[in-house]
Amino acid sequence: MRAIVRSTYGSPEVIELRDIEVPVLTDDGVLVRVQAASVNRVDWYSMTGTPLVGRVGSGLLKPKGEGLGTDFAGTVEAVGKDVSLFRPGDVVFGGRDGAFAEYVCVRESRAIVPMPAGVTFEEAAAVPVAALTALQGLRDKGQIVRGQHVLINGASGGVGTFAVQIAKAFGAEVTGVCSTGNVDLVRSIGADHVIDYTREDFTRSDRRYDLLLDVAGSRPWSACRRVLNPQATLVLVGAPKGSRLFGPLGHVARVQLAAFRSRRKVVFFIARFDKADLAILAELLAARTVVPVIDRRYELSQTAEALRYLGEGHARGKIVLSV
Ligand SMILES: NC(=O)c1ccc[n+]([C@@H]2O[C@H](COP(=O)([O-])OP(=O)(O)OC[C@H]3O[C@@H](n4cnc5c(N)ncnc54)[C@H](OP(=O)(O)O)[C@@H]3O)[C@@H](O)[C@H]2O)c1
Repeated sequence: MRAIVRSTYGSPEVIELRDIEVPVLTDDGVLVRVQAASVNRVDWYSMTGTPLVGRVGSGLLKPKGEGLGTDFAGTVEAVGKDVSLFRPGDVVFGGRDGAFAEYVCVRESRAIVPMPAGVTFEEAAAVPVAALTALQGLRDKGQIVRGQHVLINGASGGVGTFAVQIAKAFGAEVTGVCSTGNVDLVRSIGADHVIDYTREDFTRSDRRYDLLLDVAGSRPWSACRRVLNPQATLVLVGAPKGSRLFGPLGHVARVQLAAFRSRRKVVFFIARFDKADLAILAELLAARTVVPVIDRRYELSQTAEALRYLGEGHARGKIVLSV
């Protein structure tokens, strides 16, 4: 099968499209012919081997695994003898390391769920990492409640475009922060208010928020706290790339230290691949309550270009690969 592989860390030049063996089908495995994949910052970090602290798990000098990619959508090709939830021909989506490839094998108990009718492979592939992050950040860490005032800083990217729609689905009054060119987009996906960060500093606004989902990590705690109600929660999702050693974790540590004595809650979390949450997202997709925003489409052979574009940090929604 054709797959994107790499044997060293580095910029997009280190990856190549090669013919490798199709993954072995295990007894509890579902072999999926991938039709579309999507690109996430986690793939970019995995490719570059940054921040360096992350290499403790992924391989100190070179990556332990040669594959790349996480989000996929496709058609079930074959199932192991113990599999009961899926059959060949089912259309599915989910997350699995090495998703930038023609086939992935996923254990049926893991992050793989049926694709709802009326949703394209590209739309479904856009969902897993970014939408799980938005859902878990708002619901589990942010404890979002109907009627709350929620600010999404970084509303126009992969996570942000899902977060705006999911916060609206929870009945919140949503403010999105993005740059001038994305104001209309963020309004079109349901934001009640949009702040253009090139013209206005959201931390100088008169509005107050109960929940701030900080995807961009562009402002320090001393500024963010000004617009947070006394019982508010700040959920740290992402931050600029930061130093080679600590990457975005530097920003996370600074905010958590600075907010140590605050009454307001500050939480950082890493999204987890949860099958039940993927099923919730499938329902939201089926109802068109959540519609993935797709910025650019690339072929599998153009994965390096897709990653280069993502690395610039200004995607409008998701970047998908057609496999
Ligand atoms: N904690 C987790 O589990 C988790 C999971 C997924 C992602 N993340 C992190 O979340 C972050 C975003 O991921 P993503 O997939 O959404 O990235 P993305 O698709 O590349 O989007 C980045 C977005 O950030 C916006 N942005 C850049 N500078 C900004 C600023 N100063 N103020 C407001 N918005 C700004 C950009 O909008 P403009 O073009 O308008 O500037 C762009 O839309 C990354 O740091 C990623 O590592 C964390």
